[in-house]
Amino acid sequence: QFVPCLYPHLLLCVSFSVADVVLSCVLVEDGAAHGGGDGGMGAGGFSRSAATLVLRDVPAGPDQSLEGLTPFVPPRVIIPDVLIIEATVSSPDIPNSDVLLHADCNGKEVMCELSPFSPDPSRKSADQAFFMVSVSVDGEDFSTSLILRTIKVEQITQRHSRLGLPLSPSGTVQSEVAMVVFSHVKSLSGVLRDEVQLPCGFKQQDPPLAPDVQVTWRVQHRGRGRKILGLKTSLEDTQGPVIHAERRGAWVSAEQVVSEGNASLTLSDLKVEDEGTYICAVSIGKFHAQQVMLLNVIKLPEVSLSEDKLVLKSAKTLVCYSSKYYPLDAEVDSYWWILGFLIITVLFFLQVMK
Ligand SMILES: *[C@@H]1O[C@H](CO)[C@@H](O)[C@H](O)[C@H]1NC(C)=O
Repeated sequence: QFVPCLYPHLLLCVSFSVADVVLSCVLVEDGAAHGGGDGGMGAGGFSRSAATLVLRDVPAGPDQSLEGLTPFVPPRVIIPDVLIIEATVSSPDIPNSDVLLHADCNGKEVMCELSPFSPDPSRKSADQAFFMVSVSVDGEDFSTSLILRTIKVEQITQRHSRLGLPLSPSGTVQSEVAMVVFSHVKSLSGVLRDEVQLPCGFKQQDPPLAPDVQVTWRVQHRGRGRKILGLKTSLEDTQGPVIHAERRGAWVSAEQVVSEGNASLTLSDLKVEDEGTYICAVSIGKFHAQQVMLLNVIKLPEVSLSEDKLVLKSAKTLVCYSSKYYPLDAEVDSYWWILGFLIITVLFFLQVMK
């Protein structure tokens, strides 16, 4: 699809290409909230059923071709118990969403889970619903949580048989993206005593859902959880931010939260105890979404040689030691072998030049 050039004489026209992504998802419903009893009930009262999510207008990456991709065509016959949710992802956009365009052909599995929720149970309506969606791609740095809000249907002729939501003339539930939280990193490593940054960002639709934003970072390790940092601020700058760091040296820039939705956490003076699963939770008014990532702490080994001086007169064994590293089961990989080899080569030449 090419966007027509409206003002070609300005030489400012940008044509970009977009495509639709169709994802097979699992719809997870709280059985208790729906009276349950539809057979698909698992342990804990949650029911799981199949659903389809169509992301419309996903922009292609700079060197991606759209060959072989076709726009989504809704089924010709409307089946009211099949759930197809459509969402246009242009504003706000989903960062890195071009990964989704070719995940299928690259054999990467896309995980997609949907669950209905109501941000304000007191103002629940039969014609509007919200869905929380989490999408990630196996083996790729792509992980996003979305909040979708259904769009009003002018003339309601059909409703989804189980959820009761009005269907569009093509039999789909049409929605817009209200909020996105993304990290795109599933695991990362930080060096002991160094600084590490855990990326997390958010976007919301315009006009904003609410002016007040809350960012909370927590960590979980071996079954225990603790809060790292909490930040409350207003996007309207009416009041200053309130930051509460419960770990020394933990930091989120309130300025960047407000200006660009960047809620990345900086941890300085990394300790072994900092290892764990980090959760970045963002709340905008009554809307809430989060991302999870794993932090490993490593200590690079100190490398030394068994001999200070190398005299090349007789055969000698040179041992390369590495010590003081973490985790202890780390394998000394080729990097250190190459470094060791280089040191030996340099020593050898120094010796020869003498
Ligand atoms: C987010 O903020 C951190 C500093 O807090 C910065 O280093 C990082 O580059 C920012 N990320 C983006 C995507 O702007």
